[in-house]
Amino acid sequence: MFADVTASLVCQPTQVTVIGAGKVGSTLAQRIAEKNLAHVVLLDVVEGLPQGIALDLMEARGVERHDRHIVGTNSYADTAGSQIVVITAGRPRQPGMSRDDLLKVNANIVAQAARQAIAHSPDAVLMVITNPLDVMTYVAWQVSGLPARRVIGMAGVLDAARFQTFIALELNVSIADVNAMVLGSHGDSMVPLPRFSTVNGIPITELMDSATIDRLVERTRNGGTEIVKLMQTGGAYYAPASAAARMVEAILQNQMRLLPAAAHLQGEYQLQDLFLGVPCRLGCRGVESILELHLSDRELQGLHESAQRVRDSIQQAIALLQASSDLLPS
Ligand code: LAC
Repeated sequence: MFADVTASLVCQPTQVTVIGAGKVGSTLAQRIAEKNLAHVVLLDVVEGLPQGIALDLMEARGVERHDRHIVGTNSYADTAGSQIVVITAGRPRQPGMSRDDLLKVNANIVAQAARQAIAHSPDAVLMVITNPLDVMTYVAWQVSGLPARRVIGMAGVLDAARFQTFIALELNVSIADVNAMVLGSHGDSMVPLPRFSTVNGIPITELMDSATIDRLVERTRNGGTEIVKLMQTGGAYYAPASAAARMVEAILQNQMRLLPAAAHLQGEYQLQDLFLGVPCRLGCRGVESILELHLSDRELQGLHESAQRVRDSIQQAIALLQASSDLLPS
Protein backbone atom coordinates (compact mmCIF):
# COMPACT_ATOMS: atom_id res chain seq x y z
CA MET A 1 0.00 0.00 0.00
CA PHE A 2 2.79 2.42 0.88
CA ALA A 3 5.33 1.68 -1.83
CA ASP A 4 8.78 2.78 -0.71
CA VAL A 5 9.75 4.98 -3.64
CA THR A 6 13.11 5.82 -2.08
CA ALA A 7 14.15 2.23 -1.41
CA SER A 8 17.50 2.91 -3.03
CA LEU A 9 18.29 5.55 -0.39
CA VAL A 10 19.81 4.07 2.74
CA CYS A 11 18.70 6.00 5.81
CA GLN A 12 21.27 5.97 8.58
CA PRO A 13 19.26 5.99 11.80
CA THR A 14 20.66 7.58 14.93
CA GLN A 15 21.45 4.64 17.17
CA VAL A 16 22.75 4.29 20.70
CA THR A 17 23.96 0.99 22.10
CA VAL A 18 23.45 0.35 25.79
CA ILE A 19 25.49 -2.56 27.15
CA GLY A 20 24.03 -4.15 30.25
CA ALA A 21 20.28 -4.65 30.65
CA GLY A 22 20.20 -4.16 34.41
CA LYS A 23 18.27 -1.38 36.09
CA VAL A 24 20.54 1.45 34.88
CA GLY A 25 20.80 0.10 31.33
CA SER A 26 17.11 -0.62 30.85
CA THR A 27 16.05 2.70 32.41
CA LEU A 28 18.54 4.50 30.17
CA ALA A 29 17.15 2.69 27.11
CA GLN A 30 13.68 3.87 28.13
CA ARG A 31 14.80 7.47 28.64
CA ILE A 32 16.64 7.62 25.30
CA ALA A 33 13.68 6.21 23.36
CA GLU A 34 10.97 8.15 25.17
CA LYS A 35 12.89 11.41 24.87
CA ASN A 36 12.96 10.56 21.15
CA LEU A 37 16.76 10.87 21.05
CA ALA A 38 17.68 7.71 19.12
CA HIS A 39 16.96 4.07 18.37
CA VAL A 40 18.42 1.86 21.08
CA VAL A 41 20.19 -1.49 20.93
CA LEU A 42 20.17 -3.03 24.41
CA LEU A 43 22.77 -5.78 24.82
CA ASP A 44 23.29 -8.22 27.66
CA VAL A 45 25.00 -11.57 28.04
CA VAL A 46 21.88 -13.07 29.69
CA GLU A 47 19.77 -14.68 26.99
CA GLY A 48 16.23 -13.38 26.75
CA LEU A 49 16.68 -10.51 29.22
CA PRO A 50 17.44 -7.67 26.77
CA GLN A 51 14.98 -9.12 24.27
CA GLY A 52 12.19 -9.14 26.88
CA ILE A 53 12.93 -5.61 28.09
CA ALA A 54 13.13 -4.33 24.52
CA LEU A 55 9.79 -5.90 23.65
CA ASP A 56 8.21 -4.38 26.77
CA LEU A 57 9.59 -0.94 25.83
CA MET A 58 8.41 -1.39 22.22
CA GLU A 59 4.89 -2.22 23.43
CA ALA A 60 4.89 0.91 25.62
CA ARG A 61 5.13 2.87 22.35
CA GLY A 62 1.42 2.19 21.83
CA VAL A 63 0.85 4.56 24.74
CA GLU A 64 3.98 6.73 24.70
CA ARG A 65 3.64 7.38 20.96
CA HIS A 66 7.22 7.57 19.76
CA ASP A 67 8.71 5.81 16.76
CA ARG A 68 12.06 4.86 18.20
CA HIS A 69 12.98 1.19 17.99
CA ILE A 70 14.40 -0.68 20.93
CA VAL A 71 16.16 -3.92 20.00
CA GLY A 72 17.35 -6.45 22.59
CA THR A 73 20.27 -8.70 21.71
CA ASN A 74 23.09 -10.91 22.96
CA SER A 75 25.20 -10.26 19.86
CA TYR A 76 27.59 -7.34 19.31
CA ALA A 77 27.02 -7.63 15.55
CA ASP A 78 23.55 -6.09 16.14
CA THR A 79 25.15 -2.97 17.69
CA ALA A 80 27.07 -2.03 14.53
CA GLY A 81 27.11 1.59 13.42
CA SER A 82 26.11 3.16 16.75
CA GLN A 83 26.92 6.84 17.32
CA ILE A 84 27.24 6.29 21.05
CA VAL A 85 28.04 3.16 23.06
CA VAL A 86 27.18 3.29 26.76
CA ILE A 87 28.63 0.64 29.06
CA THR A 88 26.55 -0.02 32.15
CA ALA A 89 27.49 -3.71 32.42
CA GLY A 90 29.06 -4.86 35.65
CA ARG A 91 28.20 -6.15 39.06
CA PRO A 92 26.26 -3.70 41.22
CA ARG A 93 27.34 -2.67 44.66
CA GLN A 94 26.08 -4.61 47.67
CA PRO A 95 25.67 -3.00 51.12
CA GLY A 96 29.07 -2.59 52.79
CA MET A 97 30.88 -2.80 49.46
CA SER A 98 32.83 0.24 48.28
CA ARG A 99 32.99 1.20 44.62
CA ASP A 100 36.60 0.03 44.63
CA ASP A 101 35.62 -3.45 45.82
CA LEU A 102 34.01 -3.77 42.45
CA LEU A 103 37.30 -3.14 40.70
CA LYS A 104 38.36 -6.71 40.11
CA VAL A 105 35.02 -8.01 38.90
CA ASN A 106 34.15 -5.10 36.69
CA ALA A 107 37.50 -4.37 34.99
CA ASN A 108 37.18 -7.55 32.97
CA ILE A 109 33.53 -7.04 32.09
CA VAL A 110 34.12 -3.45 30.94
CA ALA A 111 37.25 -4.35 28.96
CA GLN A 112 35.44 -7.11 27.06
CA ALA A 113 32.46 -4.87 26.37
CA ALA A 114 34.56 -1.93 25.15
CA ARG A 115 36.69 -4.10 22.89
CA GLN A 116 33.73 -5.82 21.22
CA ALA A 117 31.45 -2.82 20.94
CA ILE A 118 34.06 -0.52 19.40
CA ALA A 119 35.04 -3.23 16.90
CA HIS A 120 31.49 -2.87 15.51
CA SER A 121 31.11 0.91 16.01
CA PRO A 122 34.59 2.35 15.47
CA ASP A 123 33.31 5.93 15.11
CA ALA A 124 31.26 5.92 18.31
CA VAL A 125 31.65 8.04 21.40
CA LEU A 126 32.15 5.62 24.30
CA MET A 127 30.48 6.44 27.61
CA VAL A 128 31.11 4.47 30.78
CA ILE A 129 28.79 4.20 33.78
CA THR A 130 30.12 1.05 35.46
CA ASN A 131 31.80 1.55 38.86
CA PRO A 132 34.40 2.35 40.02
CA LEU A 133 33.64 4.91 37.39
CA ASP A 134 36.86 6.85 36.82
CA VAL A 135 38.92 3.66 36.73
CA MET A 136 36.52 1.78 34.44
CA THR A 137 36.57 4.72 32.02
CA TYR A 138 40.36 4.49 31.85
CA VAL A 139 40.17 0.73 31.28
CA ALA A 140 37.60 1.18 28.49
CA TRP A 141 39.77 3.82 26.82
CA GLN A 142 42.91 1.66 26.96
CA VAL A 143 41.19 -1.36 25.51
CA SER A 144 39.17 0.50 22.86
CA GLY A 145 42.13 2.29 21.29
CA LEU A 146 39.88 5.34 20.74
CA PRO A 147 41.19 8.90 20.94
CA ALA A 148 40.86 9.99 24.57
CA ARG A 149 38.35 12.76 23.78
CA ARG A 150 35.87 10.15 22.48
CA VAL A 151 35.75 8.36 25.84
CA ILE A 152 33.76 9.82 28.75
CA GLY A 153 32.68 8.70 32.20
CA MET A 154 29.22 9.58 33.51
CA ALA A 155 29.25 10.72 37.08
CA GLY A 156 29.54 14.48 37.46
CA VAL A 157 26.05 15.12 36.11
CA LEU A 158 24.65 12.60 38.61
CA ASP A 159 26.67 13.96 41.53
CA ALA A 160 25.73 17.54 40.63
CA ALA A 161 22.06 16.51 40.33
CA ARG A 162 22.19 15.11 43.84
CA PHE A 163 23.85 18.27 45.20
CA GLN A 164 21.25 20.38 43.37
CA THR A 165 18.44 18.32 44.91
CA PHE A 166 19.75 18.74 48.45
CA ILE A 167 20.27 22.51 47.92
CA ALA A 168 16.74 22.93 46.54
CA LEU A 169 15.21 20.96 49.43
CA GLU A 170 17.23 22.84 52.06
CA LEU A 171 16.34 26.30 50.73
CA ASN A 172 12.83 25.37 49.60
CA VAL A 173 13.46 26.76 46.11
CA SER A 174 12.65 25.30 42.71
CA ILE A 175 15.19 22.82 41.40
CA ALA A 176 14.85 24.71 38.10
CA ASP A 177 16.90 27.55 39.58
CA VAL A 178 19.67 25.45 41.08
CA ASN A 179 22.97 24.64 39.36
CA ALA A 180 25.86 22.82 40.96
CA MET A 181 29.39 21.86 40.02
CA VAL A 182 31.05 18.72 41.34
CA LEU A 183 34.58 17.67 40.35
CA GLY A 184 36.86 14.75 41.10
CA SER A 185 36.26 11.05 41.39
CA HIS A 186 32.78 9.50 41.61
CA GLY A 187 33.33 8.32 45.17
CA ASP A 188 33.90 9.49 48.72
CA SER A 189 36.68 11.79 47.53
CA MET A 190 34.52 13.75 45.07
CA VAL A 191 34.85 17.52 45.25
CA PRO A 192 31.54 19.43 45.29
CA LEU A 193 32.23 23.14 44.70
CA PRO A 194 29.88 25.39 46.73
CA ARG A 195 31.51 28.54 45.25
CA PHE A 196 30.40 27.45 41.78
CA SER A 197 26.98 26.17 42.85
CA THR A 198 24.21 28.72 42.54
CA VAL A 199 20.52 29.51 42.89
CA ASN A 200 19.71 31.56 39.81
CA GLY A 201 23.26 32.92 39.72
CA ILE A 202 23.61 33.50 43.47
CA PRO A 203 26.38 31.31 44.96
CA ILE A 204 25.04 29.11 47.75
CA THR A 205 27.80 30.49 49.98
CA GLU A 206 25.63 33.67 50.10
CA LEU A 207 22.53 31.71 51.07
CA MET A 208 23.63 29.13 53.67
CA ASP A 209 26.10 28.97 56.55
CA SER A 210 29.16 26.79 56.17
CA ALA A 211 27.91 24.05 58.53
CA THR A 212 24.80 23.59 56.38
CA ILE A 213 26.86 23.53 53.18
CA ASP A 214 29.24 20.96 54.71
CA ARG A 215 26.27 18.75 55.58
CA LEU A 216 24.91 18.90 52.02
CA VAL A 217 28.38 18.26 50.57
CA GLU A 218 28.75 15.18 52.76
CA ARG A 219 25.34 13.88 51.76
CA THR A 220 26.27 14.38 48.09
CA ARG A 221 29.52 12.45 48.54
CA ASN A 222 27.55 9.59 50.06
CA GLY A 223 24.63 9.91 47.67
CA GLY A 224 25.08 6.50 46.06
CA THR A 225 25.84 4.75 49.36
CA GLU A 226 22.75 6.23 51.03
CA ILE A 227 20.55 4.64 48.37
CA VAL A 228 22.37 1.27 48.45
CA LYS A 229 21.83 1.18 52.23
CA LEU A 230 18.13 1.86 51.85
CA MET A 231 17.50 -0.54 48.98
CA GLN A 232 19.74 -3.35 50.25
CA THR A 233 19.43 -5.19 46.94
CA GLY A 234 21.17 -2.86 44.50
CA GLY A 235 21.74 0.82 43.95
CA ALA A 236 20.36 3.92 42.33
CA TYR A 237 19.23 3.83 38.73
CA TYR A 238 16.67 6.53 38.00
CA ALA A 239 19.03 9.46 38.58
CA PRO A 240 22.05 7.70 36.98
CA ALA A 241 19.95 6.96 33.88
CA SER A 242 18.68 10.55 33.75
CA ALA A 243 22.24 11.85 33.98
CA ALA A 244 23.47 9.55 31.22
CA ALA A 245 20.52 10.47 28.99
CA ARG A 246 21.37 14.15 29.42
CA MET A 247 24.91 13.44 28.21
CA VAL A 248 23.67 11.29 25.30
CA GLU A 249 21.41 14.17 24.25
CA ALA A 250 24.26 16.70 24.45
CA ILE A 251 26.47 14.50 22.27
CA LEU A 252 23.90 13.41 19.67
CA GLN A 253 22.64 16.95 19.22
CA ASN A 254 26.09 18.54 19.36
CA GLN A 255 24.82 20.90 22.06
CA MET A 256 28.14 21.99 23.57
CA ARG A 257 26.64 21.66 27.05
CA LEU A 258 29.08 22.45 29.84
CA LEU A 259 28.69 19.44 32.14
CA PRO A 260 30.93 17.76 34.67
CA ALA A 261 32.15 14.39 33.39
CA ALA A 262 35.13 12.09 33.73
CA ALA A 263 37.58 13.09 30.98
CA HIS A 264 41.18 12.21 30.20
CA LEU A 265 43.49 14.81 31.70
CA GLN A 266 46.69 15.80 29.99
CA GLY A 267 48.04 18.55 32.22
CA GLU A 268 44.72 20.20 33.10
CA TYR A 269 44.51 20.92 36.84
CA GLN A 270 48.19 19.83 36.93
CA LEU A 271 47.09 16.23 36.44
CA GLN A 272 48.30 13.76 33.87
CA ASP A 273 47.02 10.56 32.30
CA LEU A 274 43.91 9.67 34.24
CA PHE A 275 40.16 10.10 33.89
CA LEU A 276 38.64 12.40 36.50
CA GLY A 277 35.52 14.54 36.82
CA VAL A 278 36.03 18.02 35.36
CA PRO A 279 33.79 20.53 33.53
CA CYS A 280 33.59 19.42 29.89
CA ARG A 281 32.01 20.91 26.80
CA LEU A 282 30.14 17.98 25.26
CA GLY A 283 29.45 17.85 21.54
CA CYS A 284 29.23 15.28 18.76
CA ARG A 285 32.93 14.45 19.03
CA GLY A 286 32.66 13.70 22.73
CA VAL A 287 34.69 15.95 25.03
CA GLU A 288 35.17 19.03 22.83
CA SER A 289 37.18 20.80 25.51
CA ILE A 290 37.87 20.85 29.23
CA LEU A 291 37.31 24.01 31.26
CA GLU A 292 40.01 24.79 33.78
CA LEU A 293 38.52 26.65 36.72
CA HIS A 294 40.69 28.76 39.01
CA LEU A 295 40.47 26.62 42.12
CA SER A 296 41.43 27.69 45.63
CA ASP A 297 44.34 25.84 47.23
CA ARG A 298 41.89 23.77 49.28
CA GLU A 299 39.77 22.83 46.27
CA LEU A 300 42.83 21.91 44.21
CA GLN A 301 44.18 19.83 47.06
CA GLY A 302 40.86 17.98 47.27
CA LEU A 303 41.00 17.30 43.53
CA HIS A 304 44.58 16.05 43.75
CA GLU A 305 43.74 13.73 46.66
CA SER A 306 40.84 12.37 44.65
CA ALA A 307 43.18 11.90 41.65
CA GLN A 308 45.72 9.99 43.73
CA ARG A 309 43.10 7.46 44.79
CA VAL A 310 41.94 7.00 41.21
CA ARG A 311 45.53 6.60 40.01
CA ASP A 312 46.22 3.83 42.53
CA SER A 313 43.11 1.96 41.42
CA ILE A 314 43.98 2.41 37.73
CA GLN A 315 47.36 0.76 38.31
CA GLN A 316 45.65 -2.10 40.12
CA ALA A 317 43.07 -2.56 37.35
CA ILE A 318 45.62 -2.47 34.55
CA ALA A 319 47.91 -4.95 36.31
CA LEU A 320 44.96 -7.22 36.86
CA LEU A 321 43.89 -7.13 33.24
CA GLN A 322 47.42 -7.73 32.00
CA ALA A 323 47.75 -10.75 34.29
CA SER A 324 44.36 -12.29 33.62
CA SER A 325 43.55 -11.70 29.96
CA ASP A 326 44.94 -10.80 26.57
CA LEU A 327 42.85 -7.61 26.50
CA LEU A 328 45.85 -5.44 27.36
CA PRO A 329 49.44 -6.18 26.32
CA SER A 330 51.86 -6.04 29.26
C1 LAC B 1 25.60 5.88 42.39
C2 LAC B 1 26.19 4.81 41.55
C3 LAC B 1 25.55 4.78 40.20
O1 LAC B 1 26.31 6.84 42.71
O2 LAC B 1 27.54 4.98 41.45
O3 LAC B 1 24.42 5.78 42.72
